[in-house]
Parts: sequence; C-alpha cells; structure tokens
Amino acid sequence: MRRVVVTGIGAVTPLGVGAKQSWTRLINGQSGIVSLGDRFNAIPSRVAGLVPQGAKSDGKWNAEERLDKGDARKMALFAQYAYTAAQEAVLDAGLQNLSDEARENVGVNIGSGIGSFEDVVKTTLAFDQGGYSKVSPLFVPRLLINLAAGHISMKFNFRGPSLAPSTACTTGSHAIGDAFNIIRYSKSTRVVLAGAAESCIEPLALAGFARARSLSTGFNDIPEEASRPFDRGRDGFVIAEGAGVVVLEDLEHALERGAPEIYAEVVGYGLASDAYHVTAPDPSGRGAFLSMKRALEDAELRPRDVDYVNAHATSTPLGDSAENRAIRNLMLGEGGYEHAQQVNVSSSKGAVGHLLGAAGGVEGIFTALAVRHNILPPTINLQCPGPALKEKDDNLDGWDLNYVPFEKQEQQVNYAVSNSFGFGGTCASICFKKYTE
Ligand SMILES: *[C@@H]1O[C@H](CO)[C@@H](O)[C@H](O)[C@H]1NC(C)=O
Ligand SMILES: *[C@@H]1O[C@H](CO)[C@@H](O)[C@H](O)[C@H]1NC(C)=O
Repeated sequence: MRRVVVTGIGAVTPLGVGAKQSWTRLINGQSGIVSLGDRFNAIPSRVAGLVPQGAKSDGKWNAEERLDKGDARKMALFAQYAYTAAQEAVLDAGLQNLSDEARENVGVNIGSGIGSFEDVVKTTLAFDQGGYSKVSPLFVPRLLINLAAGHISMKFNFRGPSLAPSTACTTGSHAIGDAFNIIRYSKSTRVVLAGAAESCIEPLALAGFARARSLSTGFNDIPEEASRPFDRGRDGFVIAEGAGVVVLEDLEHALERGAPEIYAEVVGYGLASDAYHVTAPDPSGRGAFLSMKRALEDAELRPRDVDYVNAHATSTPLGDSAENRAIRNLMLGEGGYEHAQQVNVSSSKGAVGHLLGAAGGVEGIFTALAVRHNILPPTINLQCPGPALKEKDDNLDGWDLNYVPFEKQEQQVNYAVSNSFGFGGTCASICFKKYTE
C-alpha cells in the first residue's frame, strides 16, 4: 500500500487569505469573528466568521484581485474560495511544474456542505418577481456543489477523479480521508487536491440555523468572545465561511519530483455514524468514539500514541460535551493514558468559528501544521471547561483534559487526530503523523 503525505496547503479563513497567515494568527490567539450588519437585525445570532475584505497584499479578500471577471461570474463565492485555496496549495506543492501527462494522475475531491445558498435565494426572488427571463444561464453551474472541483480540474488540467462530497459539517474530513484512500488503492491517481469550501452567510441561512437552535445568540455585542468551545458559557456555534485545501500525494511521487515540503503523513481514517438524531449528537459520544478508534486502528496505533486531538468542538452545549466524553473514554478508558492532563485537545473554532462543510479542510491543515511545527494551537475564550451553564448541570467531573486554553503550547507532536461531525450523525477522524523517512 502506498504512503500518503501532505505536500501543499491553501486556505481562505476568517483569519485571512492564506494557510500560513491563518495559522500564524491562530497560534497567536487571535479571533476572526465579527458583527454582522443591519441585514441580519431580525435574526437572534448576529456574529460570524467572515473572510476579511481588503487588499491581497494584506492577506485579505478582494474578488477583483483574485479572479478575472469571467471566472467571478461563473463561480459562486464558495467555488471562488475553493479555487483560491487550491491555487495556493498547487503553488505551495510546486504542482505548477507537473507535465501535462503527469496531470492525468492528479484528482480533485473538494466538497461543500451547502453550496451556493445565495444563488438560490436571489434567483428564487428574481424568478418570482420577474419570471423566466430573470433566470441566469449560469444559475445551475453556480449552484452545483461539484463545480468547485470542476473549475479547479479545468484550470489546472487535472484529469484524475473529480469528486465532491457533501456530508454537512463532516464534508472536508471526508474529502481528505477519501482522497487518502484513493491514493492508497488507485492504480493511477498519485495526487489529489482535497478539502472543502463554504459560504452561506445569508440572513435566510442564519434564520434556519437559529431556528434549529444551533447558533450563539448571547454575544452579539462582543463577537470575538462568541465562539467558546468547551467553555461553560458556550451557547451555540458561530457560523463562518472559507475554504481549506490540501495536496495529498503518494510519497514516492513526491520524492521523485522533489516536492518542496512534506508537512505530515496521513496514516489513518475512521468513519462512523451516531445513528441517533438529525441535529443533536448522541450524548455518550458513541459515533465520535468509534470514528477516532477506527482511525487509530487504521493507523495501527494505540490511543496512548496520540499527542494531540484537534476537536470538532463547535461551541454548542451538547456537541462539545459529547466529544469531550468520547475523547476521554477513548484515551483514558482504554487508551493507556494515566492522567487526563496528558490528553491534549483543542478547538480552533474559538478563533475561526464553524466553517460548516469547510471545517474539516481548514482543521486538517491546522492539524498537519501542529504536527509539522510541534505546536498545539489554543482554544480561545476557554475560561472554565465544563457542561454549558445553559444545561443547568454543574458536574465538572470529566472536564480535566488539557484544552490548551488561550495560549498555544509548544510540545512534541508525532501523531495528531482531526475530528469532524455533522448533522445526520456523520463522523470522521483523520490521523496525521510526523513525516520521517
Ligand atoms: C517550478 O516552476 C517555477 C515557475 O512556475 C520555477 O520558478 C521553479 O524553479 C520550478 N521548480 C522546479 C523544481 O522545477
Ligand atoms: C500534553 O501537553 C502537556 C503540556 O504541554 C505535556 O506536558 C504533555 O506531555 C502532553 N502530552 C502528550 C501526550 O504529548
């Protein structure tokens, strides 16, 4: 079986445009969460992780500088973010130098949880008010989730598989994990651009998530404190947008072509389902437990070998509790850890919010960089770990892991796991390993 490594990274996040910029701001404990404008006044949650607008030279987003006019028209915003992240990842990995023949063996697996909500809303209104002639010929191609991957395949002449998972907030991790399997088992595919993009910060989308009682509503005046994974004051997730794309590559191929950097090796992928409820997690954390356990079995590791878990923890009262329980049960219950404080877990969502489908893409990058640089990124806003105050449960037993509050920690990281869970109960975990020959 082939070994698979990460040779390129690209990201668009609320911390900036660029994977390295996002990482630097993350480990410095900064927040990308801001207040939403007047358009959102009727919605109880008015905070979000928006990609910062501004000049390219400042690491910010400005469509005119990032895309030519035709592309900006043809691509919905989620696809624009995906393309921008893919471009960064391609250059980072040095794939621009591949021959046309070698590009036949490069695939793209980039999904989205929701796709272009904005196009649905705007076209629905236009059609309702103005009829058939108001529907753009670009409507359908902007809408389709697999068109992010489609555009990227076309732009770079990548003629391998072109795929797009859509599994709610687990999308990005499924994209990376499935790409890992494609490279491990395929006879032809040697490289896959894998990840996800999301951009649906529309009043109607927020209204829907707010009605499902998923969003934070108590921090509208202090947005940078709204996303607080594992903290007792958490009251829901903060919606965010962006994209994260990694270049996964057959190790031999990477070495043969002299890839400029190997960030980490992917060694395990685990999948499970809660089989419990549409939006709520199984309180016992059973699906999360199984997906982590299976990722470690795939990697032939014991739980004790894991130095760091990049949690899915979205800052919802029930979700963070279930994941905390799952991690604790796996690491301390059967994993060989003796002290809870040795188990190192953090959630980057405190800083970036919840990028929904794109979360696993961006967090896969953060986890690979934790392994590459031996740095545990912090969980910001974590004053007191425990069950959410909202739950009226004051039992702090089992909230004793090292959650890396507020400040990064420098620490040898040989193995790390990235978790993603989504509506419908779908769970995925990916295990990264420090690259050694
Ligand atoms: C790859 O291509 C760039 C130009 O796009 C060039 O500057 C660089 O030297 C090339 N790298 C290799 C390893 O050929
Ligand atoms: C977790 O982090 C703490 C503090 O940085 C460190 O002492 C401990 O060794 C770490 N555990 C593992 C398994 O790396």
